[in-house]
Amino acid sequence: MVNVALPKGRLGEKVYDLFERAGYSCDEMHDKGRKLIFENMEKGIRYFWVKPSDVPVYVERGVADLGIAGKDVLLERHPDVYELLDLALGKCRMCVAAKADFFDDGEKTLKVATEFVNIASEYYARQGRDIDIIKLHGSVELAPILGLSDVIVDIVETGTSLRENNLVITDEILSISARLIANKANFKFKTKEIEDIVNLMRKQVKEND
Ligand code: PRP
Repeated sequence: MVNVALPKGRLGEKVYDLFERAGYSCDEMHDKGRKLIFENMEKGIRYFWVKPSDVPVYVERGVADLGIAGKDVLLERHPDVYELLDLALGKCRMCVAAKADFFDDGEKTLKVATEFVNIASEYYARQGRDIDIIKLHGSVELAPILGLSDVIVDIVETGTSLRENNLVITDEILSISARLIANKANFKFKTKEIEDIVNLMRKQVKEND
C-alpha cells in the first residue's frame, strides 16, 4: 500500500481529483462524513485527511509515504523529505502587506505579525532588517488595523482579504503552489509504486495546464 496524507479542505479535494484522474480512485472519498482514512486495496492506495500544516509531520515520520503540502509549509518547516512534483494547484503568493498610509522609514524595528515566522524572519534577515515578530494563528489582517503590528506577512490568493480590510501589498516574497512530497526511506522501499504515481500525476498536471 502507498499511504498518502491529503490536506483537508479545498486544496485537498482538488488534489484528490488529480489522484482520481491518474487512476487512483477511492469511491468512498466522495461520501461527506467525518471519516479520515480511505483505501482502495485493488489500487494499493490509502488516503488520510490531515490538517494541511501537519502533512510534513506525517510524511517526515514515515506513516505517510506521500503527502501534499504547500510550498509555504515546506519553507516554514524545512521537513527532511523529497519534493517530487509541483502540482500547480493552490497557487498563491506570500506577501508583505500594510495599511495604505503606513510609511516605513527603514530605521525603526519593524513589527511583523504572521503565521509564517521562519519565512518572515529569513526574508528580513536577508535585508539586514531588525524585526519584532508576532506569531498569530489566523485573522492576521487584524494586526495592522489594531496597531498590533506595522505589517503582516501572509498568503494572498485573490487579494479579497487584504482589500476588505484596507490593506495593500508592499512586497512579494515568493510564489506558492502545492507540492507532492515523499518520505525518504519509504521512497527507497516503494520506488516503483511511487514513481508510477508520480508519472501518472505529472501527466494530469500537464493536462490541467
Ligand atoms: C489565507 C490567508 C488570507 C487569505 C488570503 O487564510 O491567511 O487570510 O487566505 O486569501 P485571499 O487573498 O483570496 O483573500 P485562510 O483562508 O487559509 O485561513 P486562515 O486565516 O485560517 O489562515
